[in-house]
Amino acid sequence: MHTPVPPVSSAQLQDEIVRHATPIIQFRRTLAVDHELGGPGGPLLWAGEKAVLFFGSANRDEEVFADPDAFDITRTPNPHLGFGGGGPHYCLGAHLARQEMKVLFRELFTRLPELRSVGEPDLVPSSFDHRVRTLRFTF
Ligand code: HEM
Repeated sequence: MHTPVPPVSSAQLQDEIVRHATPIIQFRRTLAVDHELGGPGGPLLWAGEKAVLFFGSANRDEEVFADPDAFDITRTPNPHLGFGGGGPHYCLGAHLARQEMKVLFRELFTRLPELRSVGEPDLVPSSFDHRVRTLRFTF
C-alpha cells in the first residue's frame, strides 16, 4: 500500500520539486553595486566582484524552511529560490518549466498510476545542474 497523497495543487508540487531537487546548482554573477551581505553590518561585497549563488543552500535554509531536507508537497508558503530570487535575472523559462512539469506528471500518472522508482538515481557529475542520468522504475 502506498501512502495516500494529500490534496495539493500542481503549483505546490512544482515548487517542492524545484526546492528539494534544486536543478540549477549555482550561477556566478558580477555585482553591479556594493552590497552588504545579509543586510546592514554584514560583510561588504564590492561592485565588480564575482559572487556565486548556491541555490541549493538557500533552498535548504533551516531559518526559512521547517525540516528542510524533507520532501513535503504540502509546504505553504514555499519561498524557494530554485528559479532565482526575483529581479532581472529571474529564470526566463520558469513558466515553461512549470507547464512542462504539470503536463509531464499529469500524463505520466494518468497512463502509469502505479509508477514507482526503485533504488537511488545515478546523477550526472556536474557543478552546474543537478541532473539524473538513470533511475529505475516499476509500473
Ligand atoms: C526546472 C527547470 C528550471 C530551473 C530550476 C531553472 C533555474 C534557473 C535559475 C536558478 C536561474 C538563475 C536565476 C538568477 O540568477 O536569479 C535561471 C536563469 C535562466 N533560465 Fe532557467 N531554469 C529552468 C528552466 C528553464 C527553461 C525551460 C528555460 C528556457 C526555455 C530557462 C531559461 C533561463 C534563462 C535564459 C536564464 C537566464 C536569465 C538571465 O540571466 O537574465 N530556464 N534558471
